[in-house]
Amino acid sequence: MSIEFFEDSGIFHLQNDEISYVIKILKNDQLGHLYWGKKIKNAERLDRYQISQLRPYEAYAVKDDTGFILENIAREYPSFGQSDFREPAYQIEAESGSIISDLKYKEHKIYKGKKELEGLPAVYVEQKEEAESLDIILYDEVLDLEVTLTYTIFRDYPIITRSVHFKNQGNKEINLKRALSMSIDFENKDFELLQLSGAWGRERDVLRRPLEQGITKIDSKRGGSSHQQNPFAALVEPDTDEYTGEAYGFSLVYSANFIAQAERNHYGKTRMSMGINPFNFNWLLESGQSFQTPEVVMNYSDQGLNKMSQNFHQLYRNRLVQGKHRDQERPVLINNWEGTYFDFNTDKILEMAAAASKVDLELFVLDDGWFGKRNDDTSSLGDWYVNEEKLPGGLEYLAEEINKLGLDFGLWFEPEMISPDSDLYREHPEWAIQVENRESTLSRQQLILDLSRRDVQDYIIERVSAILKKANISYVKWDMNRPMTEYGSLELESKRQRELNHRYILGLYRVLEEITSKFPDVLFESCAGGGGRFDPGMLYYMPQTWTSDDTDAVERLKIQYGTSMVYPASSMGAHVSAVPNHQVERSTSLKMRYDVASFGNLGYELDITELNEEEIEAVKSQVNNYKEVRSLVQFGDFYRLKSPFESNFIAWSYVSQDKEEVLAGFYQVLAAPNPKEEKVKLKGLDPDADYKEVNSGEIYGGDELMNYGIKVPYLKKDFSSRVWRFKAV
Ligand code: DGJ
Repeated sequence: MSIEFFEDSGIFHLQNDEISYVIKILKNDQLGHLYWGKKIKNAERLDRYQISQLRPYEAYAVKDDTGFILENIAREYPSFGQSDFREPAYQIEAESGSIISDLKYKEHKIYKGKKELEGLPAVYVEQKEEAESLDIILYDEVLDLEVTLTYTIFRDYPIITRSVHFKNQGNKEINLKRALSMSIDFENKDFELLQLSGAWGRERDVLRRPLEQGITKIDSKRGGSSHQQNPFAALVEPDTDEYTGEAYGFSLVYSANFIAQAERNHYGKTRMSMGINPFNFNWLLESGQSFQTPEVVMNYSDQGLNKMSQNFHQLYRNRLVQGKHRDQERPVLINNWEGTYFDFNTDKILEMAAAASKVDLELFVLDDGWFGKRNDDTSSLGDWYVNEEKLPGGLEYLAEEINKLGLDFGLWFEPEMISPDSDLYREHPEWAIQVENRESTLSRQQLILDLSRRDVQDYIIERVSAILKKANISYVKWDMNRPMTEYGSLELESKRQRELNHRYILGLYRVLEEITSKFPDVLFESCAGGGGRFDPGMLYYMPQTWTSDDTDAVERLKIQYGTSMVYPASSMGAHVSAVPNHQVERSTSLKMRYDVASFGNLGYELDITELNEEEIEAVKSQVNNYKEVRSLVQFGDFYRLKSPFESNFIAWSYVSQDKEEVLAGFYQVLAAPNPKEEKVKLKGLDPDADYKEVNSGEIYGGDELMNYGIKVPYLKKDFSSRVWRFKAV
């Protein structure tokens, strides 16, 4: 890994064993982009492809070169207004009202390691030798604005991160109207955009569409990163599949409104950009003030999508997630939500916990309804005081009793919210996000706290900490259950109102930083009505996420498959729930439900006291089986083998880093009479090793499993599954 600067040609070459990324200082002193992809040894030679070309009806940015047309030049952090009519990476408005800027190269710094981002989550290094970074400082002399583009290249991953820092050094105000984290221009290529889209209960479907001339865009305006669009996109070639072809993946370490877009211009060039959504965004930079964008993780694979995903998984597992739980096996939990909803008391919870301990579960999570007067979803968010009528003796007693049963105790919170029917709202109506003189739109009968305010942040820190200190709580589920409307803060000045969404998320990040550092032993799981905020920003603070409120095994095949495009299994909460399923009323076998959930962080979410003896025995053996394979699931390499978006059959597998252990799952949605035979070819094994299938005792060659495959026996029923476990012998 190295970053070189060639003075004569003004070229920067960032490289590691797999990739090269090449930047050039152009003749107008702006930054150009020469290359990103598989490693190239001599970057300077790429300069020959930057040719000046006269084109009709274009403008040129250098007087004596009529071919220096920015519209036709690959740029690194483009502006608008000087011969490039594509969407820019940033836009300012000066006090004069002008939106024109001209960021020219001033100087650069190359250094070992990676800087932290002020107040924002980011990928990190543990030792300086793991990465090298480059700061390129650009300067606009009319505005007295300094902009630093930061790049980091990693030694062990084919990944580059980018972020941008703006500093107003002048004495006039500058409004930042757009401040994306990255922009990159590709040569003429027939790209497709791959995105993870969905809705509540059906998050992260894998969608793919060709780029045509114009803009192909995904975004969130919902306040959080959203169920609808994940802050991820990939540019792929038409023939890129799971194991072949190029894939350029972009993942934003951010949890609020974002944009990712690809613009294909009339020369066939593609500009990919990503960052904070410029819609409803403005940031005022007074004299001396700065603005830091979030970070984008840029991932290159020349071996298809699966390799791109494995790169993300490894980086996020090792260098995004933090704290002691990062490398620890995660507990198998039981959550009471679908088992009881709001209808519980201490006796009921202890009865469930006693049954859970008999099947060797490790953690009991008490979900919504333990505080204030919350017996349904109409009240009490904000009143984080235990409801002693429901839970006499409080959480201390409950936690102690649950601990006595040999289980850890976990608790649900929704700290960012406020119910109009709450003591907190009666005392502090001004703490809700709102626009003066306008009625606030409700969602699930609740409003959002204005986390841009310090007093609100401090209240949340104080309340959550007080509860965590009082009882023996080893896990927290941090929920958030509504989109943001009426963006407005009663505290912000009018010229800063459009800063609210970003200030909100900075406030939340501060709260999470404080609480997670105060309680390093607690395992945090984030949630937003399931996977409405399943993003790298949240993962930085909370090592796992509740993947979806849809717990149906068949639906989960799609949700977990799509989620795996970016996020590792150790981040995905996956529960076995009761049948008929509460979201789709489908009945699947306990085996199928386990076989799907056990490919993530396993949990149970049902009233375990209602299971019969046979089911209890089955759950016990599932839990113990999972304990045997969980390090493989949570820390192994994941392979997608058959896609639920393409067929009735789904398959996936985990292979341990040393290739000694393998877990492969095959699932059939609908059965067919007298069907064709199905086979699954495994990936990533040692071709020279022999593997023993643990249940049958049969021996297979690694080469055989990868080239002939496993023959799937005739599955006669709808919603059936087969799981094989292999060990090298
Ligand atoms: C939404 C979550 O996704 C559910 O798991 C549950 O915690 C409810 N909120 C509780 O209100």
